[in-house]
Amino acid sequence: MTKTQILLPRRQSSLKSLDKKLKTLNPDHRRKYFILTDANILEHCLPTLIYNVPELESADFLELPVGEACKDLSIIHEVWGSLLESGADRSSVIVNLGGGCVCDAGGFVAATYKRGIDFINVPTSLTAMIDAAIGGKTAINLDGVKNQIGCFRNPIITCIEPAFLETLPENEIRSGEYEMVKTLLLTGRENWQNQNLSDLEDLLPYCVNFKQSVVKEDPEDHGLRKMLNFGHTIGHALEAYYIGQQKEMSHGEAVGIGILYALYLSTKKLGLDHACYSQYRSWLTKRIALPHLTLKEIEQLLELMRNDKKRADNETLFVLLQAPGVPVIDVSVNDNEIRDAILTSANK
Ligand SMILES: NC(=O)c1ccc[n+]([C@@H]2O[C@H](COP(=O)([O-])OP(=O)(O)OC[C@H]3O[C@@H](n4cnc5c(N)ncnc54)[C@H](O)[C@@H]3O)[C@@H](O)[C@H]2O)c1
Ligand SMILES: [Zn+2]
Repeated sequence: MTKTQILLPRRQSSLKSLDKKLKTLNPDHRRKYFILTDANILEHCLPTLIYNVPELESADFLELPVGEACKDLSIIHEVWGSLLESGADRSSVIVNLGGGCVCDAGGFVAATYKRGIDFINVPTSLTAMIDAAIGGKTAINLDGVKNQIGCFRNPIITCIEPAFLETLPENEIRSGEYEMVKTLLLTGRENWQNQNLSDLEDLLPYCVNFKQSVVKEDPEDHGLRKMLNFGHTIGHALEAYYIGQQKEMSHGEAVGIGILYALYLSTKKLGLDHACYSQYRSWLTKRIALPHLTLKEIEQLLELMRNDKKRADNETLFVLLQAPGVPVIDVSVNDNEIRDAILTSANK
C-alpha cells in the first residue's frame, strides 16, 4: 500500500507545506484536482484552503451532504458520475476537505474510481485529524448500518491544519477529545487527567504519531490495530441504541462512556489498578451525566452487540487495559460481566 505522508505544522503551516508538495507532485499541472467537501466546510474551510494552497485554485468542487448522509451508495454513485462527466482520469487527484464523513466517503470514491486514483485528506474536525484521516480505512454505510462497505487505501498525503478547528462547533471538539483521551490511556501518558486537552500543539502530533505507528504495524486490522477499538465495543452499541431512541449521544460521548465500562472490566479481568478507573470516572462525570440504564435497556445493548462482528455466542471480545499503556486485545467477556460493568459503574 502507498505510504501516507503526514503534514503537521512545523516551522510553517501545513497548508503551505501542502502547496509545496503539490508543486512537486504536479509540476506541469497535468493532473486535475477534485475537492470533495460539505456545505459547512465549503463555507468555513474552503476559502482558507484555496488562499493558502494556490496550487488548488483551478480544482473542481463537489459538495456532499453533511454528516453520515454522504456515506451512502447513492451519493457515491452521483460522485462517480460527476467525476466521469468532468473528465477525471487515472491521474486525477481527489482532495477530501472535511470531517471523518467526507474523508471516509471521498476515500471510498478514490479507492474505486477507475480501480483507484490518488487522494489527499485535509481533515477539518478533531476526530478526522487524529483518527479518520489516517490509516487508509475508507467506508460507506449499508442500509443504515455504519461502515459495512469499504476497502483499505491510503491517502498519498494527510495534511493536518489545526487552524480549521476554529470554526468546529464545541460539541464536535468535545467528541474528538474522548478519542484523544483514548490515545492517552492506550499509551499510558502520565498524569493524563490533568492534561489540558486544548493544548493541541502537543496533543495533535502525539495522537497522530500514535495512530500512524499502530497502522504501520498492522495496516489491515488483523491484530495490533484492534487496540484502537478501546471503549468502542459497548460505545458503538450505546450510540446505536440512542439513535434508535431518537435521543442525542455523540460518537465521542458513547466512546467516553464505553471507556469507563472497559476500565471497570479491566479491573475485574486484568487486575488494572482501581485508581485508574476511579480517576477516569471522576474526569468523565465532570463532563457528562452517566446513563442509568435499566436491565431492559442493557438487554437491548447486548442485542445490538450480538449484531456486532466482535461477538460470539454469549462472549464478546474486548480491548482492555492491564495498566495504562498496556492494552490487551481479544479479551473474552461474558454477558453477566457486561451487565455488572454497566450497572456498577453508574453508581460508583
Ligand atoms: N476511517 C477511519 O479510520 C475512521 C475513524 C474514526 C471515525 N471515522 C468516521 O468518521 C465519521 C465521524 O467524523 P466526524 O466526527 O469528523 O464527523 P463529520 O464528518 O460529520 O463532521 C462533524 C460536523 O462538523 C462539521 N465540520 C467539520 N469540520 C468543520 C469545521 N472546521 N468548521 C465547521 N464545521 C465543521 C461537518 O460539516 C459536520 O457537520 C464517522 O462516519 C466515523 O465512522 C472513520
Ligand atoms: Zn471512534
